[in-house]
Amino acid sequence: MAEAVAGPLDQHHFAIRRLHSLMGIVPIGAFLFNHLLTNSTAFLGEKNFDDHVLWIHHMPWLLAIEVCFIFVPIAFHAVYGVVIALQARSNVSRYGYGDNWRYMLQRVTAWITLVFIVVHLVHFRFAHWFGAESYAAAHPYFLAFTQQGFTMWLPMSAWMVIYVIGLAAAVFHLCNGLVTFCITWGVVIGDDSRKRLSLAAAALGLLLMAWGLISLYALGTMEARGPGGAEPAHVAQHEHLS
Ligand code: HEM
Repeated sequence: MAEAVAGPLDQHHFAIRRLHSLMGIVPIGAFLFNHLLTNSTAFLGEKNFDDHVLWIHHMPWLLAIEVCFIFVPIAFHAVYGVVIALQARSNVSRYGYGDNWRYMLQRVTAWITLVFIVVHLVHFRFAHWFGAESYAAAHPYFLAFTQQGFTMWLPMSAWMVIYVIGLAAAVFHLCNGLVTFCITWGVVIGDDSRKRLSLAAAALGLLLMAWGLISLYALGTMEARGPGGAEPAHVAQHEHLS
């Protein structure tokens, strides 16, 4: 009987899988870290946020950097991630161990993150393709994001729910992925170092969640807090006069 011929994906399975794994950390994970850090400056006030976003928008070769270090790696990781996720077999109903749950959650959060990234790109990066104003031209950014972005197409409360779910999925996927990455690549060997790494990844997850949540809080409560910072403009004025 003739043997089945392996396709290119099977032939290069090991190398492609390693590349998929590496891309999850660099550049995609590194980008997510930086993205959440930049967004968290919204909590420090409109000017702080605007200065950071303006600096990014004025970077030379921005489009080339975006394509090479963000869009292409995410597209590759997502497409091959879908291939891996479709082959996944969850067995948590029979073996309810932590590792089995994390394996399953890595795949569940992959699907949620995929949908969220598409929604997020349509909502902000490519909104002008769908009839909204371009954010690149908008200024100040803080007001544009708050007044246009988070009230466009859906009520702000619905956007906040979508962003909290997407944020939690992406953060879990990255931090749990950091642990599986280190195991796959032989960076950690043995139970003790694995436990320490899991704790460090959980701490990183809390930090990233905090950055994400305070930026959503700042953008979502701008009117109550006033555009300039931590307190409503009329309260600050009142205190100044009294
Ligand atoms: C914010 C975007 C994303 C980041 C930061 C990210 C990061 C990571 C990291 C660090 C890993 C661990 C690699 C390893 O275990 O060696 C991973 C694994 C994985 N990612 Fe992503 N990822 C993202 C988006 C996606 C998307 C959109 C999908 C597709 C649906 C996806 C599917 C997967 C799958 C299936 C795995 C498990 C691979 C395995 O167990 O071998 N990821 N990701």
